Amino acid sequence: MPAGFQQLGGETVTGTLALSVFTAVLGSLEFGYNIGVINAPQKIIEEEYNATWVYRYGNPIPSGTLTSLWSLSVAIFSVGGMLSSSCVGFVSEWLGRRKAMLINNLLAFIGGSLMGMCKLCRSFEMMILGRFIIGAYCGLASGLTPMYVGEIAPTSLRGALGTLHQLAIVTGILIAQILGLESLLGSEHLWPVLLGLTVVPTVLQMALLPFCPESPRFLCIIRCQDHQAKNGLRRLTGRQEVGDMLAEMKDEKRKMDMERKVSILELFRSPLYRQPLMISIMLQLSQQLSGINAIFYYSTRIFMTAGVASPVYATIGAGVVNCAFTVVSLFLIEKTGRRTLHMLGLAGMCICAIVMTTALALLDSVPSMSYISMLAIFGFVAFFEVGPGPIPWFFVAELFSQGPRPAAMAVAGCSNWTANFIIGMCFQYVADLCGPYVFLIFAALLLIFLIFTFFQVPETRGKTFDQISANFQRQSMGGMLDMDMGMDMDMDKTGTELDCLAEASIN
Ligand SMILES: *[C@@H]1O[C@H](CO)[C@@H](O)[C@H](O)[C@H]1NC(C)=O
Repeated sequence: MPAGFQQLGGETVTGTLALSVFTAVLGSLEFGYNIGVINAPQKIIEEEYNATWVYRYGNPIPSGTLTSLWSLSVAIFSVGGMLSSSCVGFVSEWLGRRKAMLINNLLAFIGGSLMGMCKLCRSFEMMILGRFIIGAYCGLASGLTPMYVGEIAPTSLRGALGTLHQLAIVTGILIAQILGLESLLGSEHLWPVLLGLTVVPTVLQMALLPFCPESPRFLCIIRCQDHQAKNGLRRLTGRQEVGDMLAEMKDEKRKMDMERKVSILELFRSPLYRQPLMISIMLQLSQQLSGINAIFYYSTRIFMTAGVASPVYATIGAGVVNCAFTVVSLFLIEKTGRRTLHMLGLAGMCICAIVMTTALALLDSVPSMSYISMLAIFGFVAFFEVGPGPIPWFFVAELFSQGPRPAAMAVAGCSNWTANFIIGMCFQYVADLCGPYVFLIFAALLLIFLIFTFFQVPETRGKTFDQISANFQRQSMGGMLDMDMGMDMDMDKTGTELDCLAEASIN
């Protein structure tokens, strides 16, 4: 083994692979940063809006207008994400994965600059526009990053590396929460810096992307540039002999050439994709409708209801739990599998939601219940990061072969952002209506997702993209023909190839 190479899960992680994954997930870091950054400085930014209003019109801002402006500043981020995530398929095919990420950074740069300078220019319009543009950046990044990472990762590490996307998101949230403390950047004069800091990962990603190879899978299957694909594979695996991997991609390409090109519409029409598409959408919904964002948007308030003296630090505590358990998932995912972890996460969250509701309801009569409800919040977050947090992102990329993957990522991303938007808009009203019982709704939803996962979601650990899609194909044909035979032989062949691969990596 050459020096500097690390052995992980029986597969070598080369410097190039590590650099490429790190560079890609800088986009996820930025995504997380922008989710978390808006929470802390709300009061200060609202005062700034008011001051701007006074400066322009000579009288204080009506409180209704202020609420609307603030809500717009928060929510327009998801609107940008919804719009741009539906373009992921088109952009990633047109520019390629790497160039798409590179150009996407322009959006982050423009968005970050607008937000950073809005105080200087006394303009809340700039702030709102900036949030929209940075939302658009995040929408694209939330599709491009898992796609690129999934495509360059070796089969045995696809889950672990895929989890890094979520780990970077939660790290971004945590950094934003810490920097947003009033003693750091969350102060009256420094908040524009806090918002503008989002350009730092952007610049770093732009500087590093030229050193990362384009996805060989994309080059080989979509662009038919075998030579470049081979070079990329050599750099990513650190081996000279990459013929076996190229052969696996060619195999996938041959199968793909038999189908027509897949647009989003065809994805919905074709019975071949119906089941994986439904699973993808349901998994995204299980992530967003689990109530996790309800916790994050309103954690401060929940902690205050729970009787915590300084809720900001409790929120940061939740952020730390967030990161820690994503790391746990990272190490478990290739051992226990996606399906098991996802179900474990959903079940744990469901129980925590019920405990939290009970504790909050009893709070008035039994004061010590505040500790139970806080524990339940931490448990809820921990179980989220074990399964429903990281898995849906990369699972979609695993369920589809190269042809339909971009369209599927777009559909999944768009459902994720839409659900996120709906929760952001409605949670407050529903919470006011139901009081502490609001989390029972999420508990019921979690139970539904748990049952769905149990009956519908297959395990994808250790399988090639080709094997996974062959599995669905067989199901959608429902034993119609004795075609099964042919497929079985095919699977066996790929199985042998895998064995060869394993041997090659041992030697
Ligand atoms: C806006 O600022 C003025 C003072 O300039 C203050 O009297 C007023 O209460 C503020 N309005 C809101 C909605 O915060």
